[in-house]
Amino acid sequence: MGIEQQKNFYITTPIYYPSDNLHIGHAYTTVAADSMARYKRMKGYDVHFLTGSDDHGQKIERSAKAAGKTPKEYVDEIVDGFKHLWKELKISNDDFIRTIEGRHVKVVQDIFTRIYDRGDIYKAEYEGWYCTPCETFWTKRQAEEELCPDCQRPVELIKEESYFFKMSNYQDRLLEHIKNNPDFIQPESRRNEMVSFIKNGLEDLCVSRTTFSWGIPVPFDEGHVVYVWVDALTNYISALGYGSEDDEKFKKYWPADMHLVGKDIVRFHTIIWPTLLMAAGIELPKQIFGHGWILLEEGKMSKSKGNVVDPLVLIDKYGVDAVRYFLIREMSIGADGHYSEDSLVERINIDLANDFGNLVSRSTAMINKFAQGKVPKPGGEHTVDRELKSFAVETVASVEEFMDDFELSNALQAVWKLVNLTNKYIEDTAPWGLAKDPEQKDRLGTVLYYMVEALRVCTVLCGPFMPDLPAKVWAQLGMEDMKEAHTWESLQNWGGLPVGAKINRGDPIFPRIDIDEISEKEDGKVETAEKLKLKDEITIEDFMKLDLRVAEIVKAEKIEKTDKLLELEVDLGVEKRTLVAGIAEHYTPQELLGKKIVIVANLKPAKLRGVTSKGMLLAASEGENLGLITLDRDIPLGAGVR
Ligand code: ME8
Ligand code: MG
Repeated sequence: MGIEQQKNFYITTPIYYPSDNLHIGHAYTTVAADSMARYKRMKGYDVHFLTGSDDHGQKIERSAKAAGKTPKEYVDEIVDGFKHLWKELKISNDDFIRTIEGRHVKVVQDIFTRIYDRGDIYKAEYEGWYCTPCETFWTKRQAEEELCPDCQRPVELIKEESYFFKMSNYQDRLLEHIKNNPDFIQPESRRNEMVSFIKNGLEDLCVSRTTFSWGIPVPFDEGHVVYVWVDALTNYISALGYGSEDDEKFKKYWPADMHLVGKDIVRFHTIIWPTLLMAAGIELPKQIFGHGWILLEEGKMSKSKGNVVDPLVLIDKYGVDAVRYFLIREMSIGADGHYSEDSLVERINIDLANDFGNLVSRSTAMINKFAQGKVPKPGGEHTVDRELKSFAVETVASVEEFMDDFELSNALQAVWKLVNLTNKYIEDTAPWGLAKDPEQKDRLGTVLYYMVEALRVCTVLCGPFMPDLPAKVWAQLGMEDMKEAHTWESLQNWGGLPVGAKINRGDPIFPRIDIDEISEKEDGKVETAEKLKLKDEITIEDFMKLDLRVAEIVKAEKIEKTDKLLELEVDLGVEKRTLVAGIAEHYTPQELLGKKIVIVANLKPAKLRGVTSKGMLLAASEGENLGLITLDRDIPLGAGVR
């Protein structure tokens, strides 16, 4: 291999507001960025992964006041909570920037001054609307009915002397840049939204405030603080030491490869940030990626609804790998996704405990039982082995492709196809059968080796997403010290698993969550589904095969020498039919006359006690109780039911 030039990768998350503790939405963004950072490190990149806190602004100043604290006391406490959460979530950030730090304040002031000196910042009177929760300026036309177009909360009228940035000057250059760099805004739907927003016309942006003080002072006019978004966006370069004596990181990592953000703040990152950089003469980031929103079943998470999901509680209950797996697997990138504890438990029980966990425990059990606890040497290859091998190689390639497009959920899905194929391989090759026949020793060796090698591939591929998982698997496979077999590079060739690794069986990697236990603790939703003992799921197509019709009972008599059967004549409007029904113990013939019921009209006719029954009526029953399905309104006879 020749000397490869060091590849760098700089990825950032938003710097979150320490106005409140973080929830699973913030956790999602940070876990997604972390998975990407870990993947790139495994691929040999020199990665710089930045997160942090957006400490300033009117919103924070107000929250602090309401809590009876100074803004500094208030944010310090919450930011400690951020750092604690990232530690628990195994976030591998290389730096954490706070906007109150000196290294940041200085860069913001320098850039503000530079743009002012170049004539792109000027002073004027601002009159318009402001959404404090979003820290966003709106024009009268945008803030219809005095509500924020983004969050629908009331805006406030502000009128103050401000500095303005000539953002309008950069409209054409920005559009040109977006056009020439299709990757600049991803996914594409977000790019289209932004392009039409920009084409509607960019106005000059108000970039300072005078009516509160929790911010960075404008250096040449101290009654003003820099608009919090200008302050915040600058973190991406201040953290690299831009403009300081120690700007090695800036030289190395800028322009950023990826600013990962939620769709709520794509506009700030694709309009304000690049135009500021243009005005300051700094290169633009390579990509802004706007992911979708995590919703709850009842809609948005919000403090006022009291439905904010705390990731720390979930980690405590289910473990960090499971929470991370769920977030990444459930959110298909770009689109919105849903969170519910039920779906989290389902993913744990099916994907993690059943599919992956089971693969680990049956593999280690079989090596113990059939190969004296050591990974055996493979013998010759059969078609089924070759198929597993080539699927594993293809899986590595498709995971890489998905990762390069930031399709994290699809990457995990691809890994799970291999997990499932490996489980199927075990069923198909049935090592327990081979083990009974001494002549099949070579064949057994191949099967056991291929099974564990595929498990090894799956484990390495899971590493970026579930940082605790690999070590647990290596421990059970007795491979802790076989570091070369843990690398991404080792996946390029099948057969990286060392022969002779000594199995060391342990506890299940992902214990099943007892659904009954959880539902007792919570709300019983899952419990009822379990206790109903439902039949296999059907599709709507299955259901539509039934032809259910409204019919009126016009005649009813007991069939002789039976206790249960009645012969009925029912009217379907255009025809009458005979039905035999086992309801004689529940209804007298008289009671039934004139009842409008529902029958299965396309059931194959059957002869009962000499009478041909052409259809079946519907009734609900439980033990001794039975009731006919009747109509609560007058509907024409023969009408369809579904
Ligand atoms: O906007 N689903 O900070 P913020 C998915 N300080 N992601 C979610 C989410 C949800 N339900 N809720 C929040 C700010 N997020 C500024 C950023 S950057 C220079 C300044 C994530 O605390 C998502 O990444 O309001 C979103 O963009 C971010 O949190 C907003 O965090
Ligand atoms: Mg927000």
